[in-house]
Amino acid sequence: MKFIKVETVLQMSSLASEIISAKINSKNTAVLGFATGSTPIKTYEILVDLYEQNLLDFSQVKTVNLDEYCSHTLPTKHSYRYFMDSNLFDKININKENTYLPNGKTSDIESECARYENLINSLGGIDLQILGIGNNGHIGFNEPSDRISSFVHHVNLCATTIEANARLFENPDQVPTTAITMGIGTIMRAREIVLLANKSKTDIINQALFGEVTPQLPASFLQLHPNVTVILSTQE
Ligand code: PGA
Repeated sequence: MKFIKVETVLQMSSLASEIISAKINSKNTAVLGFATGSTPIKTYEILVDLYEQNLLDFSQVKTVNLDEYCSHTLPTKHSYRYFMDSNLFDKININKENTYLPNGKTSDIESECARYENLINSLGGIDLQILGIGNNGHIGFNEPSDRISSFVHHVNLCATTIEANARLFENPDQVPTTAITMGIGTIMRAREIVLLANKSKTDIINQALFGEVTPQLPASFLQLHPNVTVILSTQE
Protein backbone atom coordinates (compact mmCIF):
# COMPACT_ATOMS: atom_id res chain seq x y z
CA MET A 1 0.00 0.00 0.00
CA LYS A 2 1.18 3.50 -0.80
CA PHE A 3 0.27 6.03 1.89
CA ILE A 4 0.77 9.63 0.76
CA LYS A 5 0.22 12.57 3.10
CA VAL A 6 -0.19 15.99 1.53
CA GLU A 7 -1.09 19.32 3.07
CA THR A 8 -4.08 20.54 1.14
CA VAL A 9 -7.25 19.17 -0.42
CA LEU A 10 -6.06 20.70 -3.70
CA GLN A 11 -2.84 18.65 -3.55
CA MET A 12 -4.82 15.50 -2.70
CA SER A 13 -7.21 16.12 -5.59
CA SER A 14 -4.42 16.96 -8.05
CA LEU A 15 -2.65 13.70 -7.25
CA ALA A 16 -5.89 11.74 -7.60
CA SER A 17 -6.66 13.38 -10.95
CA GLU A 18 -3.11 12.57 -12.15
CA ILE A 19 -3.66 8.89 -11.34
CA ILE A 20 -7.05 8.89 -13.09
CA SER A 21 -5.62 10.73 -16.13
CA ALA A 22 -2.71 8.31 -16.37
CA LYS A 23 -5.16 5.42 -16.34
CA ILE A 24 -7.28 6.92 -19.13
CA ASN A 25 -4.22 7.84 -21.17
CA SER A 26 -2.80 4.32 -20.91
CA LYS A 27 -6.18 2.65 -21.59
CA ASN A 28 -8.77 4.82 -23.30
CA THR A 29 -11.49 2.21 -22.64
CA ALA A 30 -10.75 2.15 -18.89
CA VAL A 31 -13.53 1.20 -16.47
CA LEU A 32 -13.40 3.73 -13.65
CA GLY A 33 -15.15 3.23 -10.34
CA PHE A 34 -16.34 6.52 -8.93
CA ALA A 35 -17.49 7.69 -5.51
CA THR A 36 -19.85 10.43 -4.35
CA GLY A 37 -19.52 12.53 -1.18
CA SER A 38 -17.70 15.77 -0.56
CA THR A 39 -14.16 14.32 -0.66
CA PRO A 40 -13.81 13.66 -4.43
CA ILE A 41 -15.55 16.84 -5.64
CA LYS A 42 -12.32 18.78 -6.23
CA THR A 43 -10.86 15.81 -8.11
CA TYR A 44 -13.86 15.86 -10.47
CA GLU A 45 -13.41 19.63 -10.94
CA ILE A 46 -9.80 19.06 -12.01
CA LEU A 47 -10.84 16.31 -14.42
CA VAL A 48 -13.32 18.74 -15.99
CA ASP A 49 -10.53 21.35 -16.31
CA LEU A 50 -8.25 18.81 -17.99
CA TYR A 51 -11.04 17.87 -20.40
CA GLU A 52 -11.68 21.54 -21.22
CA GLN A 53 -7.98 21.97 -21.99
CA ASN A 54 -8.18 19.02 -24.41
CA LEU A 55 -5.85 17.01 -22.19
CA LEU A 56 -8.32 14.20 -21.44
CA ASP A 57 -10.71 12.25 -23.64
CA PHE A 58 -13.54 10.38 -21.91
CA SER A 59 -15.25 9.25 -25.12
CA GLN A 60 -14.43 5.56 -24.63
CA VAL A 61 -14.35 5.52 -20.81
CA LYS A 62 -16.94 3.58 -18.81
CA THR A 63 -17.81 4.29 -15.20
CA VAL A 64 -19.47 2.40 -12.37
CA ASN A 65 -20.38 4.08 -9.11
CA LEU A 66 -20.05 2.51 -5.71
CA ASP A 67 -23.57 2.96 -4.49
CA GLU A 68 -26.98 4.60 -4.70
CA TYR A 69 -29.70 5.37 -2.19
CA CYS A 70 -32.83 3.21 -2.23
CA SER A 71 -35.94 5.35 -2.21
CA HIS A 72 -39.00 5.84 -4.37
CA THR A 73 -39.51 9.36 -3.09
CA LEU A 74 -35.95 10.69 -3.13
CA PRO A 75 -35.87 14.15 -4.74
CA THR A 76 -33.77 13.84 -7.93
CA LYS A 77 -31.19 16.32 -6.74
CA HIS A 78 -30.28 14.03 -3.84
CA SER A 79 -29.62 10.97 -5.98
CA TYR A 80 -26.06 9.91 -6.63
CA ARG A 81 -26.90 9.83 -10.35
CA TYR A 82 -27.62 13.57 -10.11
CA PHE A 83 -24.41 14.13 -8.14
CA MET A 84 -22.30 12.41 -10.80
CA ASP A 85 -24.10 14.09 -13.71
CA SER A 86 -23.82 17.57 -12.24
CA ASN A 87 -20.26 17.29 -10.89
CA LEU A 88 -18.72 15.41 -13.79
CA PHE A 89 -20.62 13.57 -16.51
CA ASP A 90 -22.54 16.59 -17.88
CA LYS A 91 -19.27 18.53 -18.16
CA ILE A 92 -17.10 16.06 -20.09
CA ASN A 93 -17.36 14.11 -23.35
CA ILE A 94 -18.38 10.82 -21.77
CA ASN A 95 -21.17 8.81 -23.37
CA LYS A 96 -23.82 8.87 -20.61
CA GLU A 97 -24.89 5.37 -21.67
CA ASN A 98 -21.49 4.19 -20.43
CA THR A 99 -22.02 5.62 -16.93
CA TYR A 100 -23.60 3.20 -14.49
CA LEU A 101 -25.04 3.39 -11.00
CA PRO A 102 -27.34 0.98 -9.20
CA ASN A 103 -31.03 1.73 -9.71
CA GLY A 104 -32.24 2.74 -6.26
CA LYS A 105 -35.83 3.12 -7.42
CA THR A 106 -36.28 -0.50 -8.40
CA SER A 107 -39.09 -2.54 -6.86
CA ASP A 108 -36.91 -5.68 -7.04
CA ILE A 109 -33.81 -4.83 -5.06
CA GLU A 110 -32.32 -8.35 -5.00
CA SER A 111 -32.44 -8.62 -8.81
CA GLU A 112 -30.97 -5.15 -9.14
CA CYS A 113 -28.02 -6.10 -6.90
CA ALA A 114 -27.31 -9.19 -9.02
CA ARG A 115 -27.72 -7.19 -12.24
CA TYR A 116 -25.22 -4.54 -11.08
CA GLU A 117 -22.62 -7.10 -9.98
CA ASN A 118 -22.99 -8.91 -13.34
CA LEU A 119 -22.74 -5.61 -15.19
CA ILE A 120 -19.39 -4.82 -13.54
CA ASN A 121 -18.14 -8.27 -14.51
CA SER A 122 -19.42 -7.92 -18.06
CA LEU A 123 -17.45 -4.67 -18.42
CA GLY A 124 -14.32 -6.67 -17.56
CA GLY A 125 -14.09 -5.47 -13.95
CA ILE A 126 -12.91 -2.14 -12.57
CA ASP A 127 -9.51 -0.79 -13.64
CA LEU A 128 -9.36 1.96 -11.04
CA GLN A 129 -11.72 2.50 -8.11
CA ILE A 130 -11.87 5.84 -6.29
CA LEU A 131 -13.02 5.68 -2.66
CA GLY A 132 -13.85 8.03 0.17
CA ILE A 133 -14.22 6.75 3.72
CA GLY A 134 -16.99 7.27 6.27
CA ASN A 135 -16.33 8.40 9.83
CA ASN A 136 -17.22 4.86 10.87
CA GLY A 137 -14.79 3.29 8.38
CA HIS A 138 -17.31 2.43 5.70
CA ILE A 139 -16.29 2.28 2.04
CA GLY A 140 -19.13 2.50 -0.42
CA PHE A 141 -21.98 1.86 1.99
CA ASN A 142 -20.34 -1.20 3.56
CA GLU A 143 -21.13 -0.37 7.16
CA PRO A 144 -19.37 -1.90 10.21
CA SER A 145 -20.79 -5.39 10.65
CA ASP A 146 -20.04 -8.93 11.80
CA ARG A 147 -19.27 -10.07 8.27
CA ILE A 148 -18.29 -8.58 4.95
CA SER A 149 -20.27 -8.90 1.73
CA SER A 150 -18.55 -10.23 -1.35
CA PHE A 151 -21.00 -8.81 -3.86
CA VAL A 152 -23.32 -5.89 -4.56
CA HIS A 153 -26.00 -5.92 -1.88
CA HIS A 154 -28.78 -4.01 -0.15
CA VAL A 155 -27.76 -2.38 3.11
CA ASN A 156 -29.39 -0.65 6.07
CA LEU A 157 -27.46 2.52 6.75
CA CYS A 158 -26.06 3.13 10.25
CA ALA A 159 -27.58 5.90 12.35
CA THR A 160 -24.24 7.75 12.17
CA THR A 161 -24.22 7.56 8.37
CA ILE A 162 -27.82 8.81 8.14
CA GLU A 163 -26.87 11.65 10.47
CA ALA A 164 -23.77 12.52 8.41
CA ASN A 165 -25.80 12.47 5.18
CA ALA A 166 -28.56 14.63 6.67
CA ARG A 167 -26.37 17.73 6.28
CA LEU A 168 -27.19 17.68 2.56
CA PHE A 169 -30.99 17.48 2.97
CA GLU A 170 -33.41 20.30 3.84
CA ASN A 171 -35.60 17.86 5.72
CA PRO A 172 -33.88 15.10 7.78
CA ASP A 173 -36.95 12.86 7.20
CA GLN A 174 -35.99 12.70 3.52
CA VAL A 175 -32.64 11.01 4.22
CA PRO A 176 -32.83 7.46 2.87
CA THR A 177 -32.17 4.69 5.35
CA THR A 178 -31.12 1.98 2.89
CA ALA A 179 -28.92 1.77 -0.19
CA ILE A 180 -27.48 -0.58 -2.79
CA THR A 181 -23.70 -0.78 -2.59
CA MET A 182 -20.81 -2.68 -4.13
CA GLY A 183 -19.63 -5.27 -1.60
CA ILE A 184 -16.16 -5.29 -0.10
CA GLY A 185 -15.48 -8.17 -2.50
CA THR A 186 -16.63 -6.11 -5.49
CA ILE A 187 -14.31 -3.27 -4.43
CA MET A 188 -11.39 -5.61 -3.71
CA ARG A 189 -11.66 -7.07 -7.23
CA ALA A 190 -10.80 -3.63 -8.69
CA ARG A 191 -7.31 -3.81 -10.16
CA GLU A 192 -6.26 -0.54 -8.56
CA ILE A 193 -7.77 1.51 -5.73
CA VAL A 194 -7.26 5.12 -4.65
CA LEU A 195 -8.70 6.13 -1.27
CA LEU A 196 -9.05 9.85 -0.60
CA ALA A 197 -9.48 11.38 2.84
CA ASN A 198 -9.09 14.77 4.43
CA LYS A 199 -8.02 15.78 7.91
CA SER A 200 -11.33 14.92 9.58
CA LYS A 201 -10.75 11.26 8.66
CA THR A 202 -7.18 11.01 10.04
CA ASP A 203 -8.04 8.79 13.03
CA ILE A 204 -10.20 6.35 11.09
CA ILE A 205 -7.59 6.18 8.31
CA ASN A 206 -4.88 5.28 10.83
CA GLN A 207 -7.09 2.58 12.36
CA ALA A 208 -8.06 1.21 8.96
CA LEU A 209 -4.55 1.10 7.52
CA PHE A 210 -2.51 0.12 10.55
CA GLY A 211 -4.97 -1.70 12.85
CA GLU A 212 -6.69 -5.07 12.78
CA VAL A 213 -8.43 -6.20 9.57
CA THR A 214 -12.03 -6.57 10.70
CA PRO A 215 -15.55 -6.28 9.26
CA GLN A 216 -16.18 -3.81 12.09
CA LEU A 217 -13.94 -1.44 10.12
CA PRO A 218 -14.66 -2.25 6.47
CA ALA A 219 -11.87 -0.06 5.03
CA SER A 220 -9.32 -2.20 6.91
CA PHE A 221 -9.74 -4.87 4.19
CA LEU A 222 -7.84 -2.55 1.85
CA GLN A 223 -4.69 -3.69 3.69
CA LEU A 224 -5.11 -6.97 1.81
CA HIS A 225 -5.29 -5.39 -1.67
CA PRO A 226 -2.10 -5.43 -3.78
CA ASN A 227 -2.48 -2.01 -5.43
CA VAL A 228 -3.91 0.66 -3.13
CA THR A 229 -2.88 4.29 -2.83
CA VAL A 230 -4.22 6.28 0.11
CA ILE A 231 -3.97 10.06 -0.15
CA LEU A 232 -4.63 11.94 3.07
CA SER A 233 -4.68 15.71 3.24
CA THR A 234 -3.65 17.12 6.59
CA GLN A 235 -5.91 20.15 6.19
CA GLU A 236 -9.70 20.27 5.78
P1 PGA B 1 -17.56 12.37 2.45
O1 PGA B 1 -18.19 10.90 2.55
O2 PGA B 1 -16.62 12.33 1.27
O3 PGA B 1 -18.73 13.27 2.21
O4 PGA B 1 -16.84 12.63 3.73
C1 PGA B 1 -17.35 9.80 2.44
C2 PGA B 1 -18.14 8.54 2.74
O5 PGA B 1 -19.06 8.57 3.56
O6 PGA B 1 -17.79 7.50 2.16
